[in-house]
Amino acid sequence: MHSSEHDAPGIEWRLSREEVVPFLRVPVDDRRTTPIEFPPPWPDRPWTFGVMVASSNGVVAWRRRGARDDPVRTILGGEDRPERIADRRLMRLLRSVGDVAIGAETVREEPKLVPTPQEPGDEPAPELYRFRTSRGLSYHPRTILYSLYGRLPIAHPVFHTPGLQPIVVTTHAGARELAARGVSATPAKLLVEALPDPAALARVHRRLHAELGVRYLACEGGQTVLHALHDARLLDEVFLTVTDVVIDDSAHEDLVKIFDFERERAELVAEGRIAPDSRYTFQRWRFRSR
Ligand SMILES: NC(=O)c1ccc[n+]([C@@H]2O[C@H](COP(=O)([O-])OP(=O)(O)OC[C@H]3O[C@@H](n4cnc5c(N)ncnc54)[C@H](OP(=O)(O)O)[C@@H]3O)[C@@H](O)[C@H]2O)c1
Repeated sequence: MHSSEHDAPGIEWRLSREEVVPFLRVPVDDRRTTPIEFPPPWPDRPWTFGVMVASSNGVVAWRRRGARDDPVRTILGGEDRPERIADRRLMRLLRSVGDVAIGAETVREEPKLVPTPQEPGDEPAPELYRFRTSRGLSYHPRTILYSLYGRLPIAHPVFHTPGLQPIVVTTHAGARELAARGVSATPAKLLVEALPDPAALARVHRRLHAELGVRYLACEGGQTVLHALHDARLLDEVFLTVTDVVIDDSAHEDLVKIFDFERERAELVAEGRIAPDSRYTFQRWRFRSR
């Protein structure tokens, strides 16, 4: 059993086409045989990548029956599995690349989420923060929150963790709701556009690039926001962890699945496992190339 990140095996990327146009190389340690590389960001918008975990039959979420009905934990399977540790480490690495984006529903349903490489309770990761600050980035990634109606829980730690600058992407109605909820008492910055028009979302991403210097954006879901980004042609790729858990489609309400990447003509640019007999697959699906 691997009780810590330190002694758990890393992902061996057996297929990795990104080496063709490496621009940014994410630091690796001796546990990772293949570095993770990124192409350059777009000249006018951030390079945007999803970070998701799906069951072996593609399920990413469902409507919760209560606080203990957690789709993500169920999809990931057993607590101490080395695959699960590798998945968490990958997410922490991907948080060190640039800034992080999340949908309002994920914020509402995950009350403890603090999207930074070292969440409370995580093992220290000074090298990930050094990787950020050495490239001129803020210590914590900024948190970009997408909300049409502004129904965000202002008491959530994303609004109160020192140094974790929240940026809320919303509408005029959303801004009014947020004002009523007391957003001005938090450090949040608002970007207001006529969403959900895809052209307005594209404008938001141009503003993130031009006004706030966002170059790489890790969108940690949920699927609603990933679809909106994809419809606006803003989602460049998705890092997808496929677990060996099978979810019974009929056992849950409002079951949500990940993209059908092949039908969407996405290209599998990287694929890895932590061991040849591991039944988790780490995939990287590219929608747009650079
Ligand atoms: N498997 C995974 O890897 C994974 C990852 C993340 C989350 N999840 C799970 O997925 C569930 C939540 O996902 P979800 O798909 O329901 O919700 P979500 O994508 O997290 O958030 C949806 C919300 O985003 C806002 N929104 C929708 N369209 C938008 C647009 N075009 N522009 C700006 N904002 C927009 C709306 O906020 P308002 O309602 O405030 O207007 C909407 O309610 C949770 O159970 C979570 O735990 C799973």
